[in-house]
Parts: sequence; structure tokens; C-alpha cells
Amino acid sequence: MVKYQGNMMSLRKFVAGNWKMNGTGENLAEVRAIAEGAAGYSSVDCALCLPATLIERAVRAAPGFAIGGQDMHQAASGAHTGSISASMLVDCGATLTIVGHSERREEQHESDAQIRAKAETAIAAGLQVIVCVGESDSVRGAGQAVATVAAQLDSSLPQSEGAAAQLAVAYEPIWAIGTGKVPSIGDIGEMHAALRQRLIRAYGEAGRSVRILYGGSVKAANAAEIFAVPDVDGALVGGASLKAVEFVPIVVAANPADG
Ligand code: 13P
Repeated sequence: MVKYQGNMMSLRKFVAGNWKMNGTGENLAEVRAIAEGAAGYSSVDCALCLPATLIERAVRAAPGFAIGGQDMHQAASGAHTGSISASMLVDCGATLTIVGHSERREEQHESDAQIRAKAETAIAAGLQVIVCVGESDSVRGAGQAVATVAAQLDSSLPQSEGAAAQLAVAYEPIWAIGTGKVPSIGDIGEMHAALRQRLIRAYGEAGRSVRILYGGSVKAANAAEIFAVPDVDGALVGGASLKAVEFVPIVVAANPADG
């Protein structure tokens, strides 16, 4: 059997920022600065996933720049106090959303089945969706990272018709989030190759076009090395996405040399 060498198709890179529970109106100037900075690198897709309270204002502040949510409810509407629906995100001008971030899987006890349902609802509403997966420190220490994350992906992926076209996957090792720790380049490559195989198994040829983002302590200083790994098709960036001076250089690192 020929060893898997990485996706033969080079995908356009996608760099998304996740502001998490950070940002109020005074930070809209930063959204604008990021949008203006990224506009010079049109070979890279760039987006910011913002607190729901900022989405509509950010869409107005940075017209044409992709703004997304960080989560949404799987139901269309109803008695779900405090939750936000896909149509509410669309109504605010969002074009994408994250689902299944490890902070929600842990803090809100979200299951793979719930995340799959959210992804399917997001897709039906016309949103692009970033499905997050990732292992804990102890799982990696036990040598179970690839098996665990692959299984998590299998049961979180949306199964709707044509889902692959609106999907990205983010591999975010929990122990790398906000810690300054990053897996070795070899470990990132091994995981992304395994996730690519699962995507192809789930979606056939369409699985080759689903972008697999790496997330966890991505900074300007390590972005280029991470983006050079086969099947790393972009990044999901937390802390370093809050300021244009830190985020735009990551977008630059994703820009192909001839682009
Ligand atoms: P950091 O980039 O702050 O490590 O966060 C990663 C993340 O969780 C993005 O969703």
C-alpha cells in the first residue's frame, strides 16, 4: 500500500479568529484594522468569529469581511433561554459559525451528536461551519490522540447532502489552547493526515476539499511552519486574533509566496 503523502490538492488557506468571550464596541476598530490588513492578501480566506453581541456591528464596520458566530443552537427556534439560532446569526450578517469548540464541549457538556446536529442546522441555514475536535493532555499522553480525535470527528461530522462544501474542520488539541504549547510538526501532520482520511471516508472525493485548520497557540512566529505541513489548510486562532498587529501577520504567513 502506498503511504499517504498528503492531499494532492492544495487548498486555499483559511485563517479564522475566535475572539471567545472578549470584545465590546470599543474593539470594533480592531475588527476594521484586521479586515483592512487581510484585504491585501486575497489568496487567503479570513474571518473573525465574534461574541454574538458584536456581530451585527462588526458586519457594518467591516463590510465584505466574513464575520461569524462561535456557537449556535441546533433547534430552529423555541424555549432555549440564552441561546442563538442559525437564522439569528444569518439575520445579523454572519456567514459562518464555529461549533463544538472544546470550551463548549467541556463547560457546556456538549456531545458529538449535539455538535453534529448544530452543524447540520448551520448548513441548512446557509452558514459555513467550522467543526472543532481535539484531545486532552492525558489522551495524548496515553498514545490515544489520533484514535480519539478521529472517532470524535466521525461522530461530529454533518451528514446532510452536500455538507462538505460548507464545512471546515479545526483540530485543536485542548492542551495547546492558550498555553503556548504546540504539538510537534510531525504530530500535527499525523493528525491532519488521519482527519483527511476520515473526511474522504465520510464524503468521498468532496472530503479532499474540506479545509482542516490547526488551532492552539498559533502565533505569527510559528504560523509559517505550521502552514507548511501537508493537510494543514489554515488556522483557528484565539488570543492572537484579538489584535491586528498579531493576527494580520498570521494571514500573511498563509498567503502563498506567489500570491
Ligand atoms: P489560542 O490561539 O489562544 O491558543 O486559542 C485557540 C483556540 O481555542 C481557537 O479556537
